[in-house]
Amino acid sequence: MENRHLLSVTVLIFLLTLIFSSSSMTVHGRALPGGWAPIINVTDPVVVDIGKFAVDEHNKQHEETLKFAKVVSGESQVVAGWNYNLTITATNGSAEDNYVAIVWDKPWEKFRQLLSFDGPI
Ligand SMILES: *[C@@H]1O[C@H](CO)[C@@H](O)[C@H](O)[C@H]1NC(C)=O
Ligand SMILES: *[C@@H]1O[C@H](CO)[C@@H](O)[C@H](O)[C@H]1NC(C)=O
Ligand SMILES: *[C@@H]1O[C@H](CO)[C@@H](O)[C@H](O)[C@H]1NC(C)=O
Repeated sequence: MENRHLLSVTVLIFLLTLIFSSSSMTVHGRALPGGWAPIINVTDPVVVDIGKFAVDEHNKQHEETLKFAKVVSGESQVVAGWNYNLTITATNGSAEDNYVAIVWDKPWEKFRQLLSFDGPI
């Protein structure tokens, strides 16, 4: 009887653990499609193009003359196209600094929008 009781408690704990871990997996699983994935190759022409676009667009919006140097790192996210979050090196006059730009890209519509441009960081 004692053993049986112990067994059901063990089974109960086992089941609770399963439920608990699977619900947490479901949360992370759901988060994945909208989550950010690191960009492996920051010299990929598409990534460089997005980086240049961010600097050009920032210049237009703020009447500045930053010059794109390179994309340092970045991540992307699927959202009716892609969001790119890029850390970009640019020169502003004689100062070379890093900036963080978020760009929304829908290549099939040729739609591209600068969502934010922050820095120097
Ligand atoms: C990154 O992309 C560039 C341009 O397409 C390519 O020349 C280079 O070999 C790639 N590097 C890696 C590590 O894949
Ligand atoms: C974009 O990347 C920068 C640098 O890694 C990070 O600090 C920032 O939180 C990211 N922004 C978003 C919206 O994920
Ligand atoms: C670029 O430099 C100018 C002049 O120093 C400054 O006013 C401006 O805020 C800088 N822009 C950025 C994005 O850092």
